[in-house]
Amino acid sequence: MRTFLAVVSFSLLTVGFFAAYSNYGIPQIEPAPPPEVEELDLAAMSMDEFVALGARLYQGRGTCTLCHTELGGRAPLLEEAAAVAAERIADERYQGEADDAAGYLYESMVAPSAYVVAGFGKSGTGDTVSPMPNMATGSVGLSEPEIRAIVAFLQDLGGFEVTVEIPTEAVEEAPEEAGEPRPPFATPEEAIAEFACGACHKLAGEEGELGPDLTSIGARRAKDDLRRAILQPNADIAEGFEPDLMPDDYGEQLYAVELEMLVDYLAGLKGP
Ligand code: HEC
Ligand code: HEC
Repeated sequence: MRTFLAVVSFSLLTVGFFAAYSNYGIPQIEPAPPPEVEELDLAAMSMDEFVALGARLYQGRGTCTLCHTELGGRAPLLEEAAAVAAERIADERYQGEADDAAGYLYESMVAPSAYVVAGFGKSGTGDTVSPMPNMATGSVGLSEPEIRAIVAFLQDLGGFEVTVEIPTEAVEEAPEEAGEPRPPFATPEEAIAEFACGACHKLAGEEGELGPDLTSIGARRAKDDLRRAILQPNADIAEGFEPDLMPDDYGEQLYAVELEMLVDYLAGLKGP
């Protein structure tokens, strides 16, 4: 009888434990809340914080490091950008309106063709047209204070005193992701915008020039080729283009559903 009671009470305890565990212990699956946009109060920001904001934009949402990297060699490295600004402005090929380094760096982002670094122009234009998109428009769409923050970062990177003023209007910044996996993007257009494919490709209303025009890619490539072109860009180089330019880590950044969504979308682009 003792044993029987022990067994019964043990069973009841076990059942009770699992019931409680399944109710309270297992985390409920809830969709991640939409990221809240934080307002940064620039008036209260120190210059160091402003430079750090510029660094985050440079490496993140600004997409600058997609092209300005050691790897591809199709865009100049920017450690010296502040140092060479005076030389650029004095060059007879200079078409812009800047009269100091901060002005030159600002202009480089919003009117890239004002000065095209020799050897880096859009092919066939004799270095008169830059393949760099205007960073204030399109899917990146940096605001004026954000562009100024990047200028501050580039001046600091070059070892110069920062001469841009911290703007007084507030700037909005999405908060750092706290290790939470992001929810997958719902549409191909959203994924293309977030992964900045349009910085280099003509695609989904963007006018990128460094990579092939993708508006009729589905007429030229089968789904398997498209999948490989995204996962291993250097496996097969599109004719007339350079290797090592398209980022090769999209396989790590994209969810499988997003990859398939992009492949389906691209396969459906058959041109006008
Ligand atoms: C799609 C590729 C691409 C992206 C993205 C891009 N750039 Fe560029 N950038 C270039 C190329 C190519 C050049 C050289 C041609 C020229 O002078 O415009 C250039 C030139 C520049 C220059 C002039 C450098 C010099 O030596 O005079 C600056 C400054 C610059 N980029 C800053 C940026 C910043 C900051 C960002 C991000 C907000 C950015 N770029 C994003 C391709 C890119
Ligand atoms: C920094 C510039 C850059 C970015 C960003 C970029 N690409 Fe590319 N892409 C290229 C270049 C250059 C090529 C041609 C060389 C090659 O085939 O790798 C290319 C090739 C391709 C091709 C093969 C085209 C053909 O004619 O066979 C596809 C498909 C493609 N990219 C899709 C994408 C998608 C989707 C994204 C965003 C998730 C993206 N690319 C982002 C530069 C870029």
